[in-house]
Amino acid sequence: MKAQYWVRWLSQQGLPRLVLRTQARRGEPFARLMGGPDGIADPYPLIEEMRGRGRIMRTSLSWASFDHELCRSVLRDTRFGVRNNESFDIPKPLQLLADHSPMPPNPVEPPSMLVIDPPEHTAMRKPVASAFTPRAIAKLRERVETVTEELLDALPSGGSADLIASFASQVPIAIISEMLGFPDADRARFLAWGDQLTPLLDVGIPWHAHHRAMKAMEVMNDYFDGHIARLRREPGDDILSTLVTAGDLDDYALKATASLLMGAGFETTVNLIGNGVVQLLAHPDQLDRLRAEPELWPNAIEEVLRFDSPVQTTARTALTDVELDGAQVRKGHTVVLSLAGANRDPKIFPEPNRFDVARPNAKDHLSFSNGIHVCLGASLARMEGVHALRALFERFPDLRLDGPPQRRKLFTLHGYERMPVRLGRRAEAETPEPSSV
Ligand code: HEM
Repeated sequence: MKAQYWVRWLSQQGLPRLVLRTQARRGEPFARLMGGPDGIADPYPLIEEMRGRGRIMRTSLSWASFDHELCRSVLRDTRFGVRNNESFDIPKPLQLLADHSPMPPNPVEPPSMLVIDPPEHTAMRKPVASAFTPRAIAKLRERVETVTEELLDALPSGGSADLIASFASQVPIAIISEMLGFPDADRARFLAWGDQLTPLLDVGIPWHAHHRAMKAMEVMNDYFDGHIARLRREPGDDILSTLVTAGDLDDYALKATASLLMGAGFETTVNLIGNGVVQLLAHPDQLDRLRAEPELWPNAIEEVLRFDSPVQTTARTALTDVELDGAQVRKGHTVVLSLAGANRDPKIFPEPNRFDVARPNAKDHLSFSNGIHVCLGASLARMEGVHALRALFERFPDLRLDGPPQRRKLFTLHGYERMPVRLGRRAEAETPEPSSV
């Protein structure tokens, strides 16, 4: 198994890694952006450097765009499909190394809906989509409020905490675990698997990170076998039980879907909450405005998503030769789409580097992508973000950072891994007002 993993790493990660590191050493901004050895703390200056080169540009590895309109149109364009690592500009003879042997089901390989095109995509997404409609999610609101309040009650009034471990990761993992019928006791395992698997979303990760991810996949696969067998015997009223009893998906597809929903369900929203805390503490005038006008909270969440996108990029591969703004993108070539770059496009967002919770068009960000792969969990993430951030700042009005928060060493997922805070006094919980979120 180890040899197979090594070949897979070499073809999918090792070769792009070599290209990126060589280019990064020469100072190429795209390679520095994607291949920073320790993750990029502040990607925005490099994004602006790239934007200066035009709406679409050739890079050492692929095409790339940081332009809102162009990214959005590629995401909606049926001449493009989802990314395929082998479509990066690696010399053809080296591509022969590519390994196609079967892997344990996982979120970043077929049949995960994230990485397949229609008609298979439609068949995989449809059975899950009904559980994530805005109406279905609205029914979860009370549960999100209760979970949030319980977590805030457990934080030490007047004390210190790591806000990521004790709050930002806990809200989304509690909710998605319940939605998928996983026992509460298994949340810590999922957090650990999440840490090990998320580097797979990046390009050019080192061998040790890749190997850890493969190992986590194997263990998670065994866990899912047991969980699915249990649900088959005693189905609950969760999404996975519904999928298991409907019988549309085989076990491999069920496990790929479960791992995608689980991972997407908390690995992104933790960043929304964490990034939101940092931005609001850095902009006390904006926090004051939210205290005076709490009806602005839903818009503030859109602005957090726009300003510091939890998912920084995605990519699409041309299914045929395509001309884009004068660039000839050949069939099989990849376009990296910077969602974070699109979100700071000054043509769409005036003064894009200003954090403004009342920005009228904040919601036009591309943080949830667009087109057929648009985030299935967007309504859920928005609701969790609003309740978690609002309740946190209401219950701990004197919250302060207690040292610099530490960024996750990832490129695609953009958030914090540790956030030391001083909580200050805890205010009593107010009975939540009815809200439209
Ligand atoms: C702030 C939180 C979140 C962000 C920023 C986010 C972002 C994204 C993005 C950018 C994509 C599309 C990638 C692409 O086009 O290539 C996506 C897809 C997806 N997201 Fe989210 N997501 C979030 C929360 C969630 C949650 C809570 C769930 C719930 C389980 C979820 C489930 C999914 C699924 C299933 C897909 C695949 C959809 C498809 O391929 O058709 N996401 N998300």
